Amino acid sequence: MTTSSPGTAAPVRPDQTRTSAPVLQVDGLVRVYGDLRAVDGVSLRVDPGETFGLLGPNGAGKTTTILMIAGLLRPDAGSVHVAGTDMAADPIRAKGHLGLVPQELAIYPELSARDNLRFFGRLQGLRGTRLKTRVEEVLELVGLEDRSRKPSKTFSGGMKRRLNIGIGLLHEPTLLILDEPTVGVDPQSRHAILESVATLTEAGMAVLYTTHYMEEAERLCDRIAVMDEGRVQAQGTRDELVELVGDADVVVLAGGGALEVAEAAVEVLPAVQRVTRDAEGLRLTVRGAPTAIAGIVTAATDAGMSLHDVQITRPDLESVFLHLTGRALRD
Ligand SMILES: Nc1ncnc2c1ncn2[C@@H]1O[C@H](COP(=O)(O)OP(=O)(O)OP(=O)(O)O)[C@@H](O)[C@H]1O
Ligand SMILES: [Mg+2]
Repeated sequence: MTTSSPGTAAPVRPDQTRTSAPVLQVDGLVRVYGDLRAVDGVSLRVDPGETFGLLGPNGAGKTTTILMIAGLLRPDAGSVHVAGTDMAADPIRAKGHLGLVPQELAIYPELSARDNLRFFGRLQGLRGTRLKTRVEEVLELVGLEDRSRKPSKTFSGGMKRRLNIGIGLLHEPTLLILDEPTVGVDPQSRHAILESVATLTEAGMAVLYTTHYMEEAERLCDRIAVMDEGRVQAQGTRDELVELVGDADVVVLAGGGALEVAEAAVEVLPAVQRVTRDAEGLRLTVRGAPTAIAGIVTAATDAGMSLHDVQITRPDLESVFLHLTGRALRD
């Protein structure tokens, strides 16, 4: 038997304690351009070791928010605290805790990957053995050891982006901010980037990740803020967000045997809303299927059903965005 969630597999993550002080605390950020409130009162919090997603379409205000968080753009209102330090009061200290990987590439095309890392590492204040060690560690982490001596202008888009990410990591920040790191990137590099983000958070780094790809937010992020027109429309775990839509999960129990008896047995389970029988087996609508699935499978098999496959299909962030804004996330 296999358990699968086609297309929209929700990441399974160990419980994380939320008792420690936030790595990032953003309160009421505003940035106005003429008549446009590009960022219109954004508040959010990122906890240690957490991957936080800022999900929104083009022009939502993600980059403007990120630039204010990173201390590169002055807010018209609101505050940013990084690891407890107020960005406005002590920007040097606050910036020391964070690494920013900008949406636009910031690397020197004539320099090799290694020399780019050395150069930016020195700018970040690294010297001597520490610089040398970090350059090698970062090259390995972003998977560029093989090409480290070639000028970066010979790199693919994805490799350049991986180098760009490496630069943000050199000084081992507490919080890494990535602004749409997979846009215009080949599938192989996209995979490598997502993998390296997962590795970093496993090692305890917090990540703030902006994207307009729902799949990335779903796959990577512990919590997500859905952003549109300068505002956070909703934030929470993927499951909390999806609950806003109120949709139930669809569970397909594929198989044969005593289907009628199994149907009656699962129908009475509290999480199960509706059961239908078809050629494939049983199709259920279920509230909170990931929690309820074990009980459902047991009830069906105890009733004499022989299972070939179990599939859980869950409502996704696309439906959440539509629900919140009345518009599609994709352009
Ligand atoms: N310097 C600026 N001057 C005027 N308007 C700006 C400026 N920077 C951003 N904007 C506007 O603010 C809004 C938010 O832009 P921002 O770049 O933050 O969006 P985004 O969510 O990062 O979009 P994308 O997904 O396209 O990167 C847009 O309407 C943009 O045109
Ligand atoms: Mg942007």
